[in-house]
Amino acid sequence: CLLVCSLFFLRSLKLVCASLRRQRFHTSGSHSKGRTAAEHLWLTRHLRDPFVKAAKVESYRCRSAFKLLEVNDRHQILRPGLRVLDCGAAPGAWSQVAVRRVNAAGADPSAPVGFVLGVDLLHIFPLEGATFLSPADVTDPRTIQRVRELLPGGRADVILSDMAPNATGIRSLDHDRLISLCSSLLDVAPDVLHPGGTFLCKTWAGSQSLGLQKRLAEQFQNTRTVKPRASRKESSEVYLLATQYQRAKGPVED
Ligand SMILES: C[S@@+](CC[C@H](N)C(=O)[O-])C[C@H]1O[C@@H](n2cnc3c(N)ncnc32)[C@H](O)[C@@H]1O
Ligand SMILES: *[C@@H]1O[C@H](CO)[C@@H](O)[C@H](O)[C@H]1NC(C)=O
Repeated sequence: CLLVCSLFFLRSLKLVCASLRRQRFHTSGSHSKGRTAAEHLWLTRHLRDPFVKAAKVESYRCRSAFKLLEVNDRHQILRPGLRVLDCGAAPGAWSQVAVRRVNAAGADPSAPVGFVLGVDLLHIFPLEGATFLSPADVTDPRTIQRVRELLPGGRADVILSDMAPNATGIRSLDHDRLISLCSSLLDVAPDVLHPGGTFLCKTWAGSQSLGLQKRLAEQFQNTRTVKPRASRKESSEVYLLATQYQRAKGPVED
């Protein structure tokens, strides 16, 4: 996913060049053939992908924008005036969507102005209406401290996480790492998320998915799984959407 995002255009360009070169020189040999087939598949899929085309037309930084647009169209999690914390925000497509939906750049003078704070390990290019904290690690307590200082009123109404570790290809390991990223974000929700707030996070389906869902169900009134159409069918990617944050059910301190 990181690859698809950050090398969005670079890779397709490189592959176009590579396939042109191959056509000219008719390289063969079973090794290079196998790689060519895989690359060719990626390239044709990438070029045919309607979401890739639409991302270019609407000038989103990454096709992943459409996943958030879809979740938002279905569940209305963003509206003018809300404060959004976007975790794993690079290259910034979700932040672009959030800025428009919460009116963070004040484009609609008649609607309340929201706030978007994006955080990532990688540098994020500036975006009008968004504040970026990068490079920064969301699992680092110092980052959370900065997040609380930067958010108006010290809290977000919506926490988004499209974070993903660099995939190793070992499915269960990647799953475990992503789940632990999500849970560390949930750990800081009492300090960062406004009561009544929303939590949306990317997961890769696996053995610990149910455990995370249970934890969410204890702290939010509503929890559901969402698989946007823009999420590639062959990936195990599933988003968990939890709304109406009530902190841990039961006795609440302070
Ligand atoms: C799939 S990309 C996000 C794409 C983004 N939603 C967009 O629309 O442009 C996942 C991002 O998560 C970031 N990430 C992974 N672990 C992180 C962590 N511990 N703290 C901050 N960002 C992290 C990666 O650097 C990567 O940029
Ligand atoms: C993934 O790898 C890149 C390049 O090695 C690195 O800059 C980045 O921080 C890594 N991301 C994660 C989530 O570990």
